[in-house]
Amino acid sequence: MSEKVHPVLASAKKNALIDNDTYQSWYKQSIKDPEKFWAKHGKRIDWFKPFTKVKNTSFQGKVAIKWFEDGVTNVSYNCIDRHLKKRGDQVAIIWEGDNPYLDKKITYNELYEQVCRLANVLKKHGVKKGDRVTIYMPMIPEASYAMLACTRIGAIHSVVFGGFSPDALAGRIVDCESTFVITADEGVRGGKPIPLKDNTDKAIDIAARHHVRVKNVLVVRRTGGKTGWAANRDLWYHEETLSVKPECKPERMKAEDPLFILYTSGSTGKPKGVLHTTGGYLVYAAMTHQYVFDYHDGDIYWCTADVGWVTGHSYIVYGPLANGATTLMFEGVPNYPSVSRFWEVIDKHKVNIFYTAPTAIRALMSAGNDPVTKTSRKSLRILGSVGEPINPEAWEWYYQVVGDKRSPIVDTWWQTETGGILITPLPGATALKPGSATRPFFGVQPQLVDNEGNVLDGAADGNLCITDSWPGQMRTVYGDHKRFIETYFSTYKGKYFTGDGCRRDKDGYYWITGRVDDVLNVSGHRMGTAEVESALVSHDTVSEAAVVGYPHDLKGQGIYCYVTLMAGLEGTDALRKDLVAHVRKEIGPIASPDKIQFSPGLPKTRSGKIMRRILRKIAEDDFGALGDTSTLADPAVVDDLIANRQNKK
Ligand code: PRX
Repeated sequence: MSEKVHPVLASAKKNALIDNDTYQSWYKQSIKDPEKFWAKHGKRIDWFKPFTKVKNTSFQGKVAIKWFEDGVTNVSYNCIDRHLKKRGDQVAIIWEGDNPYLDKKITYNELYEQVCRLANVLKKHGVKKGDRVTIYMPMIPEASYAMLACTRIGAIHSVVFGGFSPDALAGRIVDCESTFVITADEGVRGGKPIPLKDNTDKAIDIAARHHVRVKNVLVVRRTGGKTGWAANRDLWYHEETLSVKPECKPERMKAEDPLFILYTSGSTGKPKGVLHTTGGYLVYAAMTHQYVFDYHDGDIYWCTADVGWVTGHSYIVYGPLANGATTLMFEGVPNYPSVSRFWEVIDKHKVNIFYTAPTAIRALMSAGNDPVTKTSRKSLRILGSVGEPINPEAWEWYYQVVGDKRSPIVDTWWQTETGGILITPLPGATALKPGSATRPFFGVQPQLVDNEGNVLDGAADGNLCITDSWPGQMRTVYGDHKRFIETYFSTYKGKYFTGDGCRRDKDGYYWITGRVDDVLNVSGHRMGTAEVESALVSHDTVSEAAVVGYPHDLKGQGIYCYVTLMAGLEGTDALRKDLVAHVRKEIGPIASPDKIQFSPGLPKTRSGKIMRRILRKIAEDDFGALGDTSTLADPAVVDDLIANRQNKK
C-alpha cells in the first residue's frame, strides 16, 4: 500500500479557512466539550427559536439521538430566504444539461419563487407536514425545487434514484406509504431517454396491490416524450405552478422533526429507510461543506453525484445552499458526448471545487491523458473523492493530470447513515497520503475493534466504529427503530458500527479497506447481496442463489452470482442473459450481474449456512487459499465450483 506523503500545498494553505493548528485545537475542543463546540457551530444556521439544549444522545439500550432539540427552524428558509438580502441576484444553481448546448442559471431570487410556488402546489393538493413525498427525477433543477418545497412545508421527502426499476420504486413508495410522487415525463442521460413517468405508472400499480394508493403524480415536462396519463391523478408541473402564489411561509420545524428518508442497502433484507432530521443534519451538512471543500464566497462548486444518493442531498443541495454557494447540477454522464465532458464543463463554468467518485476517475483515466490535457482546468482549486476507496494509482492520476499538482484531493469517507463527511483531509491543514481518507472531522471519534469487540489502539487493522454521536447522524430506520438498533448498535454494544473495515497507521491516518459485511459497492453504488439474491430466486428457473463481490478494475467491485437451477434444468448462455435482464428489471441496471456461475450445489456448513468466504475466494480466482473446508456438509461441492469458475485469469 502506498505510503507516499504529499505535504499541504502552500497555495492551499494561503487563504485556507482551517490550518493544521486550528484543526488540532478545534478537534480537541470538539471531543473534550462537545456541548460547547456544537453550541457555537449550531448557530451557523438561523433559528426561529434558538436552541438551549445541544446534545442529548445515547448509543445504549433504546438508542436515542437528539441535537438542538428545543430549537425551531426551517431548512428551505436557511437554504434560500436568509440569503436573499445579500445574494438575491447571485446564481444559486448552474444547470448543465446532458446536451452540451443546454444550460441554465437560477438565482437565489428565482429559487425562492420556484420553491414557494411548488410548496403551494403541494399544499393545494393536500400534502401536509409529516406526509411523505416521493421524488423520482432526472438531474434537473426541479429535483432541487421539489426537495426544498417539501422542507418548506414540513413534508418528508424520499428521493428515489432515477435508475431504479418500477419494482424498486414501488417498494420504496409502499414502505413509507407515500401518496404523492413528483417525476418527469422522461430523463435524458448520454443522449438516451429514460422513461420515468412510465416507470412511475408501473410502480403505482404495484404499490396499489400492496394497498398504498398514490393520489397524485406531478410531472415535469422534460423531453415532451409520450407518456400515459391518468386524468384524475396526474398533474403537469408547469400548469400547476402557474396557478398558485409565488410566496409561501416556511413551516416552523422542530430540530428533531423528520427531514427526509433515503433508502439504502444493508447486509440483510430489503433496503431500509434511513431517516434524517432537520436541525443537526443541516448544521452538519453546511459545516462539512464549508470546511472540507474550503468553500469561500463566490466559489463555483460542482459535485457530480445524483440527487438520488446521499451525496446529492448533502453536497449538491443542502450543504452548498445553506452556505449561499453556487452549486452546479449536471444532468449527463462523464463520457457524453466525449470523455472530455467533465473537464469541458469545468472550463465552461469556471469550476473551482470539483467532487466526484473513484469509479468515474478510473474510467476517465483509462481513456488516457489527452482528453484531459486538451482542456485548461485553470479554475480548479480543490478536488474531492467519495463513495469507495480510491486506489493510489487513480489518486495520483487525479492529482497530477486532472489537478496539475495544484489542487489538494479531499478523499471523504462517510455513509448515507452519517448524513455528512466523517473522515477527510482539510485542504489547508492535512498532509495527504494517496488512498487514505486521513483524519476525523470535528466531533467524530473513530475507534477500531477486532471481531470480538476488543478496542485496538495505535497502528491497527480492524472494524470501524464511531463511539459518540455527531449532529448529522441518522436517527432511526423509518418505521423500524428495532432494526436501527440491531443493525448499527448491537454488533459492538454502545458503539455505532459502520460496516467498514479500516486500518489506522502510525500517524493516526485512517485507510478504509471496504465493507466487512454483505454489502457491495459497485461503481460507488451501494447494494446488498441479499437484494440481488432475492431478485435471482424470484426467477422461475432458480432454486437458490448466492451473490458475492469481486475486485473489478473500473467498478471497484463486480457482482458474481452463484445460481442453482431447479432440478432438471440446464444452465445456458441464453438463460444467463435472461437472468441478467431479470435482475435489471427487479432492481435496476446498476445491479446487473457481471458473472453468473451455474452451480449444482453451494458450499454449506452442516447447519445449512452458506460459506461466503469460500465463494468470495473462488470469485476472486484465489482458490489456493480457501482455508478450512472441513466443516462443509459436502466438501466435493467446492471442486465443481473451482472447475466451473467464471473469473479464470
Ligand atoms: O464502504 C464505504 C464506502 O461507501 C459506503 C457508504 O455508501 P453510501 O451509504 O452509499 O454512501 C456513499 C457516499 C457517502 C461506506 O460504508 N465509502 C464511501 N466513501 C468512501 C468509502 N470507502 C472508502 N473511501 C471513501 N472515501
